[in-house]
Amino acid sequence: MPVLIPETRNSHQQRRATRRQGQGETGGVTGDMETFPLGRHRVRRIGFGAMQLPGPGVLGPPRDRDEALKVVRRAVELGVDHIDTAQFYGPNVANELLAEALYPYPAELVLVSKVGAARDGHGGWISAQRPAQLRAGVLENLATLRADQLAAVNLRRLDAGHRDPGVSFDEQLDAMISIRDEGLIGGIGLSNVTLEEFEHAVGRTEVVCVQNSFNLLDRAAQPVLSACRQRGIAFVPYFPIGSAFGGQSALLGHPAVAQTAGRLAATPVQVALAWLLALAPNILLIPGTSSLAHLEENLAAGSVTLDAKALAALDAATG
Ligand SMILES: NC(=O)c1ccc[n+]([C@@H]2O[C@H](COP(=O)([O-])OP(=O)(O)OC[C@H]3O[C@@H](n4cnc5c(N)ncnc54)[C@H](OP(=O)(O)O)[C@@H]3O)[C@@H](O)[C@H]2O)c1
Repeated sequence: MPVLIPETRNSHQQRRATRRQGQGETGGVTGDMETFPLGRHRVRRIGFGAMQLPGPGVLGPPRDRDEALKVVRRAVELGVDHIDTAQFYGPNVANELLAEALYPYPAELVLVSKVGAARDGHGGWISAQRPAQLRAGVLENLATLRADQLAAVNLRRLDAGHRDPGVSFDEQLDAMISIRDEGLIGGIGLSNVTLEEFEHAVGRTEVVCVQNSFNLLDRAAQPVLSACRQRGIAFVPYFPIGSAFGGQSALLGHPAVAQTAGRLAATPVQVALAWLLALAPNILLIPGTSSLAHLEENLAAGSVTLDAKALAALDAATG
């Protein structure tokens, strides 16, 4: 029976990073942006999430295939060096678009994917959490991306109510460790984890990134973010601007966001992203979009400086 899992909405400064100047011949908008390590790689703080590339419901071909390819190429042209994807976006669609647009990949591009889910014949999200399924998921990602290795792959845990009682977290970690030790992935990431699960995993092996839902109005993962920060591990919030699943309007229409945007001559999305960038140096952004105009707007959030008044108003914002 298909289990609805949450790639749909789930239950939910110190400037230590260094600057990397002027990469890319086009002098893209991310050219002088701060960076933070993601495993063995150091990436710019605004990357790109590929979940919006497939059609509606993250299913099937894009509404506008040419635009989708342009978005991906433009992202890299503008300096994006970190792209988040998944074989189950489409399925296959996001990965195949990335490969078509970018293969052979630029040496500095860090591709990150995730395993733990699949799609049923109707596009429903189903669990694929068992060790053999995690391995199969990594292999499918490599094949559809035409890659020999991925910089990191996130073990995407299901929400507590949907977990498969037949598979333990330790078994999953064992599988991810052997996949990494075989060289199929450069690093292990975790997604949708509790603080206890995070601490347990880092006690067992190196973890290079954590992806949990997090934004101005959804701060449940703050303890995990803080723990990652303490350990120098990248925290990559998903749904940074509220997602495509209905949370976006609450975030972008929030009075603190709207008023700050008006006062600073920025857009609400840029304010939401700039707030995350200012919150902690280990936050790496992967806003998702299928639109060239939105891509450029999102990358330009790196130039938006939130003053003390803005930070106070946004920090006090609640859902
Ligand atoms: N680990 C996980 O479980 C997990 C779960 C979900 C997502 N992710 C990753 O996280 C990434 C980000 O999450 P997300 O894409 O779901 O949500 P998001 O980035 O919070 O929001 C995406 C939504 O915002 C819209 N949008 C983007 N830029 C905009 C702009 N400048 N102005 C107005 N609207 C804008 C997009 O529509 P347009 O296409 O029209 O721009 C889309 O509807 C994903 O792409 C995926 O790579 C991971």
